[in-house]
Amino acid sequence: MSKQTKDYSQYFDFSDAKVISEDETGKKIRIRGREIHIMSEPNQREEKKRGKQEVQVMYENAVPEELRQIGVGKHYLVYTFGCQMNEHDSETIKGMLEQMGYQATESRDEADIILLNTCAIRENAEDRVFGELGHLKTLKLERPGLLLGVCGCMAQEEGVVNRIMQKHNFVDMIFGTHNIHRLPHLVQGALFSKEMVVEVWSKEGDIVENLPKKRQGMRGWVNIMYGCDKFCTYCIVPYTRGKERSRLPEDVIAEVRELARQGFKEITLLGQNVNAYGKDLEGMNYTLGDLMEDISKIDIPRVRFTTSHPRDFDDRLIEVLAKGGNLVEHIHLPVQSGSTEVLKKMSRKYTRERYLELADKIYTSIPNAVLTTDIIVGFPGETDEQFEETLSLVRQVGFDSAYTFIYSPREGTPAASMEDNVPMEVKKQRLQRLNDTIKQYGRISSEKFLGQVVEVLVEGASKNNDHVLAGRTRTNKLVHFEGSADLIGEFVHVQITDSKSFYIKGELVAEPAVIG
Ligand code: 5AD
Ligand code: SF4
Repeated sequence: MSKQTKDYSQYFDFSDAKVISEDETGKKIRIRGREIHIMSEPNQREEKKRGKQEVQVMYENAVPEELRQIGVGKHYLVYTFGCQMNEHDSETIKGMLEQMGYQATESRDEADIILLNTCAIRENAEDRVFGELGHLKTLKLERPGLLLGVCGCMAQEEGVVNRIMQKHNFVDMIFGTHNIHRLPHLVQGALFSKEMVVEVWSKEGDIVENLPKKRQGMRGWVNIMYGCDKFCTYCIVPYTRGKERSRLPEDVIAEVRELARQGFKEITLLGQNVNAYGKDLEGMNYTLGDLMEDISKIDIPRVRFTTSHPRDFDDRLIEVLAKGGNLVEHIHLPVQSGSTEVLKKMSRKYTRERYLELADKIYTSIPNAVLTTDIIVGFPGETDEQFEETLSLVRQVGFDSAYTFIYSPREGTPAASMEDNVPMEVKKQRLQRLNDTIKQYGRISSEKFLGQVVEVLVEGASKNNDHVLAGRTRTNKLVHFEGSADLIGEFVHVQITDSKSFYIKGELVAEPAVIG
């Protein structure tokens, strides 16, 4: 994609747009023959605000009776980009579409509605979405009745919305992360008005309960909180996902109980910064540790949580996790950099030493704890020495695995205007060295499993071989072994015979000799 298309400022010029009407339902404009109904559009200045306004919890019936037939005999396809939060939002979107009568399809040719649930975290995620839109344009020209929608984090960006209105005006719907529950009404609007419908809320966000969810398999995601107030200087999430707001403990617990009743084997509690859970709940002194303790009493075999922020990770949580049971001993704890100076520029609000102390405390208190992390290389101005500090931290902590990224400037974030004197070639070399180091530690951790018998939750067939099943240990290590497809969704015991960097291999055994 050329530098020119990426410069979003050009899409802020609306001189060739004509305003047709403006009233309390929004503004109607016409750009190059396409009518667009803008009910509300994103505004980064608003998204940055964190007011004292109380969070409303709404118990919605998102799909009213009169919209439950709208999709009968029709099909939907949702493409999801990005993180688990987006995956889970797509489950809600699919749940609502099914309540509207739509059926799932994997075929674009069969689909009557196609939605792109997008990610804004790095530039390459955005490029993929625009690439996809290019392909979908052809389909839309062949079948004008097809409804195309863009939602998720990119829809919360002003520049992206302007670009779609101006350059990709075959899109029918744009909606954001705060108003997913409005989907049925937006579909109705786009179907009947034939206009492009834009509804993106910039407000800090409420909590909408009771939305239907289409979960698949035996592993379920459960939101515990939304948004992020950390404003790390490189990150777009606080703008696209709004302020931190926790679901009420009773709503979370009721959802987990229901999943247990339905036979789910594993749940992952989700939030952008789960360690801040409960801090915004007025008149309650209830934290993530308390929630985990309550959930540990529910009969669900494995409970995970993500993503943690080292700054808010408290002793109470460590104490609860140390009790084990269904709370697994895997903690994803993004460090981002091993250099205190870089962490300061990132506004992470902890030092290298504090992170190391926390890792130490976790290893000492939680038997067999495994840590994984996220790391950014090539942050503006990162020196060779600072990068070496990241490598030395990786060695010191011995992460089992890590998601590693080259820094990607995000418009409107503070880091995007910091001077960056690190050439891309150097960033790529750093990423390579970092990945090699992590691989080495992955191998060491895999070797520890040799000869042990581990409990594995079977997820499905391995990607490359139908006869080989793939599953995960409590610590999230990928395990391959031969077995029949009826085991998918079950717990089995596997004796480990071979170790690779990112997975281990073994053979099914009837009874566990020792659980690793
Ligand atoms: N550039 C590169 N990586 C980023 N992340 C977040 N923002 C950026 C960015 N601008 C990474 C962080 C975060 C993970 C989800 O994505 O490591 O933990
Ligand atoms: Fe982004 Fe930082 Fe919030 Fe994580 S904690 S979502 S990296 S701002």
